[in-house]
Amino acid sequence: MASFYVQGCFAHAIAPGEIEIVPDGLIAIADDGRIEDVSAPGRPEHEAHAQRAAASGAITKLGPRQMLTPGFVDLHIHAPQWPQAGTALHLSLADWLRGKTFPLEVRYADIAFARRVYDSLVDTLIANGTTTALYFATIHAEASLALAEICLARGQRAFIGKVAMDHPDSCPVYYRDASAAEAIAATSDFIARVASLQGNESKLAQGVITPRFIPSCTDALLEGLGDLAQSTGAAVQTHCSESDWEAGHVRERFGLSDSHCLHRFGLMTRRTVLAHSNFIDDADMALIAERGAGVAHCPLSNFYFANSVFPLRKALEKGLHVGLGTDISGGPSPSMFDACRMAIAASRGLNDGVDPDVAPESRGRPGSSIDFRTAFWLATAGGGQALDAPIGQFKPGYQFDALLLDPDAPGSNVVSFDAEEPEILLQKLIYNAGRANIASVWIGGRQVRGERA
Ligand code: GUN
Ligand code: FE
Repeated sequence: MASFYVQGCFAHAIAPGEIEIVPDGLIAIADDGRIEDVSAPGRPEHEAHAQRAAASGAITKLGPRQMLTPGFVDLHIHAPQWPQAGTALHLSLADWLRGKTFPLEVRYADIAFARRVYDSLVDTLIANGTTTALYFATIHAEASLALAEICLARGQRAFIGKVAMDHPDSCPVYYRDASAAEAIAATSDFIARVASLQGNESKLAQGVITPRFIPSCTDALLEGLGDLAQSTGAAVQTHCSESDWEAGHVRERFGLSDSHCLHRFGLMTRRTVLAHSNFIDDADMALIAERGAGVAHCPLSNFYFANSVFPLRKALEKGLHVGLGTDISGGPSPSMFDACRMAIAASRGLNDGVDPDVAPESRGRPGSSIDFRTAFWLATAGGGQALDAPIGQFKPGYQFDALLLDPDAPGSNVVSFDAEEPEILLQKLIYNAGRANIASVWIGGRQVRGERA
């Protein structure tokens, strides 16, 4: 017996580049927040479902131009960096980390400050339609736990990492784990504490093994965290082959690419998410695909820190799981709509090339561009696939994580002067919608924003 129903036009991505739009769909949501049934006129059993829905009295009906989509999955975001979003982006990655980011992150020893920032961020993300986030927190267990509590209280699906970083050469003395052994024990303890938080019976929040990136970790730390990943099956996140400087550092230290190095330490699993991965070659892609790991593509951040555009289309063609991240604050925007737009624009830049002094035939990498359909896939189902979680599509058994989008909301930048096909409207929403257009948000069947039906 469904607990409630949503009826109207829904759109979701079923593969990269492939969307399905159902103009008069009906979704039944079970008590546990999962989708029980999806039907539409002409499909078997639809009439019976529609009658049950009408009789239930618990039905949300969309307006004629409104659209239901899966919620966004932000596959890479640094929660503690929210206070500096939109600043310091003129710096190089190394200078930004040392000069701005580590001095900010160390302040999360102060739990009151952490709560103030994390409250603001989680509210903002939900208002922007982010129903799942894969967060980097800081090295502080208590503040990282506060982030998990706030996500649970607000109802946001969250994968959270207490950051591990202990290398004395690359981490400042004032901001690093005391030793590899302590960082490993603290990671294990953090994952267990998140799992047993009150109100987390459905595992809405989960702890994640989070070596910051190879340069910030000693061999002992990478080895210990790899062992933990193998023994617990917990999710893993890290930064991978992000910039010339970072990838060069790893090559010099290990004679390996980031991906192969992570694999050597046992950190390349089905539940690993690699942020950025701009400089992965064919052998890296083959390894990542073979392991079933995922990439969090962060196009906006990449313009500032990565020295290149991620070869997204090639990665998808080789079967890699890819989603999108805001990478706050390497990327300044909390909006996954912005991440979609930047992914499209970046892919076009790679396709055509960007240096007007280079002849057109050698300026770009033809075959690199994506369209709004693939961006929509990345921001929803692609992120869910990378996390190995049943989210991002309207399918029986999947979590009902959804957005009610209203193109005609007050303050909207989405305009129409004629009647439009739903696919044109969806395209306009991907290119021009913002938080004003997000009328309601559900996560795991719980309505966390918007007017109740
Ligand atoms: N590499 C290591 N730490 C960070 C970080 O906080 N942001 C980005 N973009 N790259 C990193
Ligand atoms: Fe990052």
